[in-house]
This record gives sequence, structure tokens and C-alpha cells, in this order.
Amino acid sequence: MIHPISLGFVGSGDITHAIVTGLFAQTGQRYEVWLSPRNAHISKELADRYPEVHVAQDNQHVVSQAEIVFLAVRPQIASEVLGALSFRPDQCAVSLIAGYGTQKVRESLRDAPERIVRALPLLMVARAASRTVLYPVETRVRDIFDSIGGSLSVDSEDQYDAMLALSASMGLFFATAHAQSSWAAERGVDYAVARAYLMSLYRGLADTALLDDTPLDQLARHYSTTGGINEQVVSLMTQAGMFEHIDSTYDSIEKRLAAIRQSGRKA
Ligand SMILES: NC(=O)c1ccc[n+]([C@@H]2O[C@H](COP(=O)([O-])OP(=O)(O)OC[C@H]3O[C@@H](n4cnc5c(N)ncnc54)[C@H](OP(=O)(O)O)[C@@H]3O)[C@@H](O)[C@H]2O)c1
Repeated sequence: MIHPISLGFVGSGDITHAIVTGLFAQTGQRYEVWLSPRNAHISKELADRYPEVHVAQDNQHVVSQAEIVFLAVRPQIASEVLGALSFRPDQCAVSLIAGYGTQKVRESLRDAPERIVRALPLLMVARAASRTVLYPVETRVRDIFDSIGGSLSVDSEDQYDAMLALSASMGLFFATAHAQSSWAAERGVDYAVARAYLMSLYRGLADTALLDDTPLDQLARHYSTTGGINEQVVSLMTQAGMFEHIDSTYDSIEKRLAAIRQSGRKA
């Protein structure tokens, strides 16, 4: 029998719930999981659902039990939580904490392991429906995320932060779709019908783009017949400065993330 890999999660919130749910839905029994007692409701729910999931006595107990430990608390309390944790050198810590780079995690932990990885999962990993950005790549961590939707790697921590900035596009996606559906609703279309239409349109477009590596500007031209209404929408949005705003918006996010990454670092 293959020895199950032991995983620990410090912070049993939404993203831990999504990863654990995805893992057991996709991979069955290859993992043993140790959860921190907080959040009590989520950790109990997962432990009741899967016999391989255990609730630890405290955060250090999670670390002591696991080969790979996911750090999944909010940034506001991360320094305090990490400062109380001692790892063995052979363990691997996976920081999911926004703005906590590898160096900051290393400096924050009481005793740090040799391997520290950053991972950027989305809640859709629960359905194996989104890919997770990793830096640096660690084979066992990559295997975990490959089993729940796939992984993507980048070449530096700055690139990782650029991907983190891109992950801040979720609210924009829904806000845009809401504005579009509301526009149709104001013209008498049932909001639910407009919403369903737009979501199937966006899903179809995303599926099309994922079929190969065709550059997105090429797809934009392909889907914008000369003189047609798609071309008109792109043209009007360009005139309104929408694409210039994209650059300046993500520049701001990048600056904010860099400031978080620097804050609290030892000199
Ligand atoms: N949600 C996402 O899509 C996502 C994606 C990628 C990365 N992340 C990152 O993952 C981290 C967690 O995000 P989340 O969305 O899962 O947040 P969350 O739902 O608020 O979960 C954080 C959990 O930490 C627990 N906690 C509070 N104090 C603790 C302590 N001293 N020791 C152990 N656990 C403690 C909280 O428990 P109580 O409820 O009892 O306070 C809560 O359940 C954040 O740093 C976030 O940036 C999130």
C-alpha cells in the first residue's frame, strides 16, 4: 500500500475548504490531512466528511504532523500566527497568503523549513476548474494542484506577483457581466436570461481560447468582423480609455503588493 502524503493546513477557511474538497473528490485516499481547529465549523465539517481528515489540537500540532503545510490565514494575522510555528528542515511550507513572499515567510516563521513555495489557488479548485500558479515549483506541491485543475509556473517572485495582480480580476468580471445583464434588463429582458446568455458566451470564449495558444489580440480581431458590432464595441471602449485604464489599474495593484511584500521584513 502506498503511504499517504500528510498535508497540514494552518487556517481552515474558504480556500482550505476548496483545496481539501477538490483533493478528495479527485484523488480519493492519497492524502492524510491535518487541519487547524479554526475555523471550528469548517474543520469539523471536513473531518466528518472524510475519514482521512483530522482536526489538530493547535497550529503547531498541524505542522508537526504534516510533510507539506499550507499557510492559509489572512495577511492581517499572518505575522503573529507564523511567528509561533516551528518547522523541521525537511518539511515544505506552502504560502497561500497574499503578499507573503518566500523571504517574508522564512523570516516570519520561528523555525523555517528549507523549502518554501508560494501558491495561488482559486476557489474553483474545489471543482478542479482552475489552475494554480506556483513559485518555485516543488514536485509534490505541483502534483497536488495538477490533480485539482492544473498548475502554472513562473520564473520569479516578481512574475508571481504579476499573476497575483491578475487574480484580482474576479470582481471585475462579475461587475462587468452584471452591468451588461442590467443593461439588457432595462430593455425588458429577464435579468436571469441575460445572465445565462452572457455566462455561456464567456465560458464558450474561454474554452475556445484554451484550445490552443493563439494570442488573445488575434482572437479579438478574429471575433471582430470589420464593420461589425463586435468591432464597434472594441472601438468605443478604446476611445473611452478602457485599455489604458487596465495598465494603470494593474500597476496600482502591483505597487500595493510590493509594499505588502516589503512591510515587516527584517532589514
Ligand atoms: N479565498 C481565496 O480565494 C484565496 C485564494 C488564494 C489565497 N488566499 C489566501 O489564503 C488565506 C486565507 O484565505 P481564506 O479566503 O480562506 O480566508 P478565511 O476564509 O477568512 O480563512 C482564514 C481562516 O483562518 C482562521 N484563523 C483565524 N485566526 C487563526 C489562528 N490564529 N490560527 C489558525 N487559524 C486562524 C479563521 O478562523 P475563524 O473563522 O475562526 O476566525 C479562518 O477560518 C489568505 O491569506 C488569502 O489571501 C485566498
